[in-house]
Amino acid sequence: MRKLIAGNWKMNGLRADGIALARALVERVRGEQAGGDLVLCPPATLLMAIAEVIRGSPIGLGGQDCHSEAKGAHTGDISAAMLRDAGCHYVILGHSERRGDHHESDALIRAKMTAALAAGLVPILCIGETAEERDRGEALTVVARQLAGSLPGAVGKVPLVIAYEPVWAIGTGRTPTTADVAAVHAHIRRALAGKVADAAATPILYGGSVKPGNAGELLSVVNVDGALVGGASLVANDFWAIAKAAPS
Ligand code: PGA
Repeated sequence: MRKLIAGNWKMNGLRADGIALARALVERVRGEQAGGDLVLCPPATLLMAIAEVIRGSPIGLGGQDCHSEAKGAHTGDISAAMLRDAGCHYVILGHSERRGDHHESDALIRAKMTAALAAGLVPILCIGETAEERDRGEALTVVARQLAGSLPGAVGKVPLVIAYEPVWAIGTGRTPTTADVAAVHAHIRRALAGKVADAAATPILYGGSVKPGNAGELLSVVNVDGALVGGASLVANDFWAIAKAAPS
């Protein structure tokens, strides 16, 4: 399967920075072949501007979260349909920063998954263990529990993406060994069977301190179908180098 390289800009970027970053990437994809498909997930304030910049290019657009309800009295929140309307095809759900900062539970994430799928978005569902959980030898149990808790019951033949992001690897410069990544991704692939229509075709991304220097190695691991990139996605040259490192 073709690799998916998604950039999670998090709460970074004013209009000028975001537009310049997206423009630089559009120029790169026009001039050269990337090893995978690119998706940008800018802050909500930039979605429509970035949608305009990437229009006509193969770069996709994603939101960083959505509400579980379709509309209504939810001050400050954004619905899945609003993301679609702004030009998104993807939405990141269950990121550990949302689980942490906003106390999002698996049950809430499951409701958001249902809303995203109903609106025709492809959810990028994030799961991953904390350092303490890994030290206790619970990494596989935790990701399986998060997957079971946050995947809606009857996921038919709809596209969705899983992102394995060990919490301790996010923004720290630390990454699991390729053997550990392989073990968790294989476990996720097995756990997906029976829960989604086509487990083999469901992309499983790795996320957490993916950089140009380690992307080639991480993206070559069996069952790693792409990357969810935070910090390095804010620098056009770095994000492009990661996309180039993907074995096509
Ligand atoms: P990082 O973030 O690449 O900065 O570690 C990844 C993520 O949180 O998606």
